[in-house]
Amino acid sequence: MITIFPMKDKDIPAVVEIERLSFKFPKPEAVFHEDEHKYLVAKDENKIVGYIGIEKILDETHIINMAIHPDYRGKGIGKRLMQHVLNDEDVFFLEVRVSNESAKNVYQKYGFKVIDVRKGYYADGEDAFVMRRIPNE
Ligand SMILES: CC(C)(COP(=O)(O)OP(=O)(O)OC[C@H]1O[C@@H](n2cnc3c(N)ncnc32)[C@H](O)[C@@H]1OP(=O)(O)O)[C@@H](O)C(=O)NCCC(=O)NCCS
Repeated sequence: MITIFPMKDKDIPAVVEIERLSFKFPKPEAVFHEDEHKYLVAKDENKIVGYIGIEKILDETHIINMAIHPDYRGKGIGKRLMQHVLNDEDVFFLEVRVSNESAKNVYQKYGFKVIDVRKGYYADGEDAFVMRRIPNE
């Protein structure tokens, strides 16, 4: 059974491992310590299988990132994390690589729409789509 909890200090090594397996330019462990309060983890029994980071920026909620352990992808855990953080009051936004079809699919499923392109946003020069979700739109 998948359950979702605020990330704790002891969860960070497992989160960092998923980050490393999921991104070309993984964030260093120190970032997760600094931003510990921004993250939620998804657990399968006691094993950490994914995480999501959110923060308030001005009056909008920014989804910093989300990743699921490669062995646990395609089982609906990403959708569970999205359902957990979204609500019908706040505006949410995020950046996603233009090539990241699976992530774009999840976000589109939850009403995110591409509103902008950030040229060369990633360290390798790839562009980012900025996606935003306005409640009841
Ligand atoms: C993107 C990611 C978080 C999705 O998590 P997940 O648990 O595998 O996704 P889910 O099983 O909940 O699937 C949600 C939806 O995503 C889409 N999706 C998932 N895997 C996909 C794939 N391989 N190809 C295309 N679409 C896919 C589908 O639309 C799916 O909905 P459906 O099952 O109703 O059709 C996961 O693939 C991941 O960790 N990727 C690497 C890190 C990353 O790119 N994070 C996003 C950065 S912005």
